[in-house]
Amino acid sequence: MAELHNVPRHIAIVMDGNGRWASKRFLPRIAGHNRGVETLKRIISACPSRHIDTVTVFAFSSENWNRPVEEVSGLMDILAMALSREVPKLQRDGVRLRFVGSREGLSERVKKGLEDAEALTAGNTLLSLNVCFNYGGRWDIASAAARLAAAGTPITELSLSQALSLSFCSDPDLLIRTGNEMRLSNFLLWQSAYTELYFSELLWPDFDEAALDAALSDYASRERRFGKTSDQLVGKSVTKA
Ligand code: IPE
Ligand code: IPE
Ligand code: MG
Repeated sequence: MAELHNVPRHIAIVMDGNGRWASKRFLPRIAGHNRGVETLKRIISACPSRHIDTVTVFAFSSENWNRPVEEVSGLMDILAMALSREVPKLQRDGVRLRFVGSREGLSERVKKGLEDAEALTAGNTLLSLNVCFNYGGRWDIASAAARLAAAGTPITELSLSQALSLSFCSDPDLLIRTGNEMRLSNFLLWQSAYTELYFSELLWPDFDEAALDAALSDYASRERRFGKTSDQLVGKSVTKA
């Protein structure tokens, strides 16, 4: 397990590679997405003992609607199934669930499931799990700016960041992307301004506790300067101020 110093409190994950994992096994892509849910459960359980208090995952992007219709409906079914099967367990484990993203285009059944899961787990404090579903960083920034403009509120860094959908939590310290792709794909564009990035060659269904620990060790060796010089940081804890 990673050393206790320099631990990320908030990690963000682009869970990529499910389709390739399935194709390599001559399985339908949806089998990879199902496997991906198992990996997520495993990684979530591993976080509290590693002092991570918030996990934000990318589950379905604004652009994923452009996939074949069977895959999109399969992903909606997986979400609905995971809500009914996994939420009671998350509740028992003290995990607070939030869904981040547009609710437009989601079925009434899914929307109700998201709301119920958020309400049921609202009092939990062990771990916050933010599931970005039907989410895009551009959507988030544009809709926040539109709301501010409609209310006549001046747009500043502070007002905009407070209007974004993840304003209730700190920015991620570490962003992990699996699947051997080095891009953000419209995830957390605003919030990742000073996030440490870590790219794993593993496909998401193959990602495990050891891979998480490798990412945490790598993070522990980074120096986060937030624009300052190294000398300014010596012997001091790093703060953004
Ligand atoms: C990520 O896995 C999950 C979603 C985008 C829903 P992919 O489905 O993108 O898997 P690859 O990248 O095609 O292997
Ligand atoms: C990003 O993965 C979205 C999710 C993991 C949910 P994609 O597979 O959609 O990203 P691109 O298309 O390869 O950039
Ligand atoms: Mg992908």
